Amino acid sequence: MNHTNHLSKEKIASLLQAKHYRITVVDALPSTNTALKEGAICGAPHGEVLIADHQTAGRGRLERSFYSPSGSGIYMSVLLRPSLPLSIAAGRITTLAALAVSRAIRRTSRLKTRIKWVNDLLIDNKKVCGILAEGIRIGEENAVVLGIGINVKSAAFPAELADIATSLEEHGVAPDRNVLIAAILDELFSLDLAHPQDWMSEYKAQSAVLGKSVWILPFGGEPYEAIAIDVTDNGALMIERNGEIFEIFSGEVSLRLEDKELIS
Ligand code: BTN
Repeated sequence: MNHTNHLSKEKIASLLQAKHYRITVVDALPSTNTALKEGAICGAPHGEVLIADHQTAGRGRLERSFYSPSGSGIYMSVLLRPSLPLSIAAGRITTLAALAVSRAIRRTSRLKTRIKWVNDLLIDNKKVCGILAEGIRIGEENAVVLGIGINVKSAAFPAELADIATSLEEHGVAPDRNVLIAAILDELFSLDLAHPQDWMSEYKAQSAVLGKSVWILPFGGEPYEAIAIDVTDNGALMIERNGEIFEIFSGEVSLRLEDKELIS
């Protein structure tokens, strides 16, 4: 076994500054998000973290699959029980998580990522990380399962991903996954969900879309081109089209950068 590449709950816990997480590491699951959603319904607490070495049915947005091979990536889910309404919490958590992962990657591997609204991190216009925040209502309570998938080591991507996905290792640095996971959890803890004004300018500075012309692909509608002009505190994208400004929400559209087939 390659110990530098071995996921260890003890190692992650020893590296963490924030001590309030409860971490479980397993070898394989169909999907850490699906398993943690079931955990949430059974009463798992805020701060429960589930990490798998690989997933057999990893999920992305829009019912896409997320490629999750063994020994090469980070596939983790964090349970949050926010006091905000779900309509606000899920978008804001996705935005906050994108910034937290971007900071953690920079800290552990010195690589700069750019954030493609709403849930992808890119290096050289290729996807290195996807984020899936799923809100659930349990009785009177709200919970959000925040799923994070990162391509750490170079893997033979399937043909349909070969041109659009990349890994940290392809850019020179494959950090120890335990170190990167601890950094992500600490960064998540350091960002205050209730005060997006404290971190939103940092998020925007890393945006791959702001100020650019992008293709908006409404579900069930005709694609159109617009200028991405801002991201609201709740994670909606403000766009300008034919002189009109309006907000779009991640549940309603996909977005394409120029001619790239990078769908968020
Ligand atoms: C996307 O690219 O649309 C989001 C991908 C999210 C992948 C992560 S991996 C851990 C967690 N479990 C899943 O099944 N999905 C998320």
